Amino acid sequence: MPDKNPYLPVRATILDVKQETSSDTQDVKTYTLKLDTPLSYRPGQFVEVSVPGVGEAPFGFASTPLVTSSMELTIKRTGLVTDAIHALSPGDSLWLRGPFGNSFPLEKFQGYDLFYAAGGLGLAPLRPMIDMIFHPEYRGKYGKINMLVAARSTKDFIFRYDYDRWEKMPDTKLFKTIDCMEDGWECLVGFPHVLVEDIPFDREKTIAALCGPPIMIKALSASLMKMGMPPERIYTTLEMRMTCGVGKCGRCNIGRRYVCVDGPVFSMAELSEMPPEY
Ligand SMILES: Cc1cc2nc3c(=O)[nH]c(=O)nc-3n(C[C@H](O)[C@H](O)[C@H](O)COP(=O)(O)OP(=O)(O)OC[C@H]3O[C@@H](n4cnc5c(N)ncnc54)[C@H](O)[C@@H]3O)c2cc1C
Ligand code: FES
Repeated sequence: MPDKNPYLPVRATILDVKQETSSDTQDVKTYTLKLDTPLSYRPGQFVEVSVPGVGEAPFGFASTPLVTSSMELTIKRTGLVTDAIHALSPGDSLWLRGPFGNSFPLEKFQGYDLFYAAGGLGLAPLRPMIDMIFHPEYRGKYGKINMLVAARSTKDFIFRYDYDRWEKMPDTKLFKTIDCMEDGWECLVGFPHVLVEDIPFDREKTIAALCGPPIMIKALSASLMKMGMPPERIYTTLEMRMTCGVGKCGRCNIGRRYVCVDGPVFSMAELSEMPPEY
């Protein structure tokens, strides 16, 4: 917990807005922000973002913490706050407080191969870890990397401008899949929990980090465990409804755990000891 008042936000000026998706069903944009006071954060953590007069909502950091001059949030339009954010343009301001929550335990991941699986917007909270581990200072501490990126359709992929760079990284394989075949599509078709069985990674020395809709996480983690991976080596990040972000309001609890302070990152072993409310 930062030693400043956790309810005091800092101003973030929007430098750039990127339209990520082009489908009729999902409207996702990435905001590049310059903060009056830069935040230092770890992959997996989140911020509470407010639009004055409208409200506040939590969002995971979407860019590498190694770049401190600006940071990115990737936001899907779903309601009051996200509608208001989507109406903003470069030069406008947002207010951020945080960082909050735990993070992916990257020290524990050292020496292991990694399997990242993202469904739709789920690639956003994984991206800080993906880019941090690709940095030359960190890459040698981790083994091979396999990535499975799933989207409903070709129009629903986010960060497609990153894929070429990621695919060219040493000892890295990127698999892309969509739910149903489309003209001209040359990658995989189908759901991650089925396709994962054909991805050749070493079950004995891999750590998995999954992020996406709850139905994907449940099916994919079940497949991974059936394939012999222990729940201690499968991590995910939860998106419960939240208000305070600092363990005070009781809005985000699952049993005795608060997702805002004990999470949002949990291993499947930890989740198996909690009530199935996520
Ligand atoms: C730790 C964390 C990280 C997150 N990271 C991101 C991110 O990187 N990008 C992103 O776009 N979103 C992220 N979310 C989800 C985001 O917080 C919600 O989409 C946002 O709060 C919606 O606010 P709103 O005022 O626009 O919608 P509202 O007007 O509050 O709600 C609109 C609709 O969405 C539903 N809804 C709202 N929030 C949630 C939720 N958390 N889970 C399920 N249904 C919900 C409501 O029930 C309602 O049907 C994250 C959530 C958490 C807890
Ligand atoms: S959001 Fe208030 S306790 Fe977690």
